[in-house]
Amino acid sequence: MTVEGSSIDSTRPSIARVYDYLLGGKDNYAVDRQVGDVFFRDLPGSVAIAFANRAALTRAIAQIVTTTGVRQFIDLGSGLPTVDNVHQVAQRHAPESRIVYVDNDPQVLVHGCALLEQNDRTRVVRADVRDPEGVRTHPDTLELIDFDRPVAVVLSAVLHHVNDAEDPAGIVRHWRDHVPSGSHFFVSHFRSGDNPETAEAERVLQRTFGRGRWRTDEEIASLLDGLEILDPGIVPAPLWRPGTVGGNPWGVGGAERELTVWERLIVAGLARKA
Ligand SMILES: C[S@@+](CC[C@H](N)C(=O)[O-])C[C@H]1O[C@@H](n2cnc3c(N)ncnc32)[C@H](O)[C@@H]1O
Repeated sequence: MTVEGSSIDSTRPSIARVYDYLLGGKDNYAVDRQVGDVFFRDLPGSVAIAFANRAALTRAIAQIVTTTGVRQFIDLGSGLPTVDNVHQVAQRHAPESRIVYVDNDPQVLVHGCALLEQNDRTRVVRADVRDPEGVRTHPDTLELIDFDRPVAVVLSAVLHHVNDAEDPAGIVRHWRDHVPSGSHFFVSHFRSGDNPETAEAERVLQRTFGRGRWRTDEEIASLLDGLEILDPGIVPAPLWRPGTVGGNPWGVGGAERELTVWERLIVAGLARKA
């Protein structure tokens, strides 16, 4: 299948499709399931990372819509829309919300376009998050997003797929410098722990994709330099405003029980541009 001149390669695993498989989705190939099965079989607790991340993301979008005036979202590294995506959560609370999904995986575009056919307040842009200016000035972005008004920039589980040499902090800085005051940034990120679980999961991702950087709390906080990090800070995803309205079809709870070591390896935070 060809999308905008580039084909879906079903012979090599893709980050988006492996993630879709881990979340129980159907938009994946045997080659993706092979990688996913390494996690299910050898690191079974690790799958909680994906669910905890998705649940925190839905809470964060609901929080942005219900507690701020922000009604436009740029979801960078959006992944394959499964259930309760950013547009579904945002438009449930505020139907006028506009969303631009951005991903470099051709399958995301195919699936997203089908899902969003009926939704004229949502676009899917195939682009690379490492080129923030290209994303910002893409015609579909400019059609939907008014950069004179606050925007929510969503960086959910994507910056850990940007290597240090590719300047993840520079990506955030670029957006920070091009959105108005009152804009929000949601970030979730693999958090390194000094434990065998981190090392093994990192090995699998690096071996498969040459990516997957587990950063320390300090490194993750520094990605949000110059922004005001809102309560409760950057915390393990299940502890990010647990119990607030979001949707959470994943049924993942929050702080009412002790977290597993895996659930502590994904952190989430919301920041605001003053
Ligand atoms: C783990 S998934 C996260 C999906 C979604 N944001 C979430 O939190 O559930 C990471 C996504 O980022 C995308 N991605 C990774 N590197 C990217 C890049 N350089 N440009 C655009 N998308 C990228 C992958 O294709 C994948 O869909």
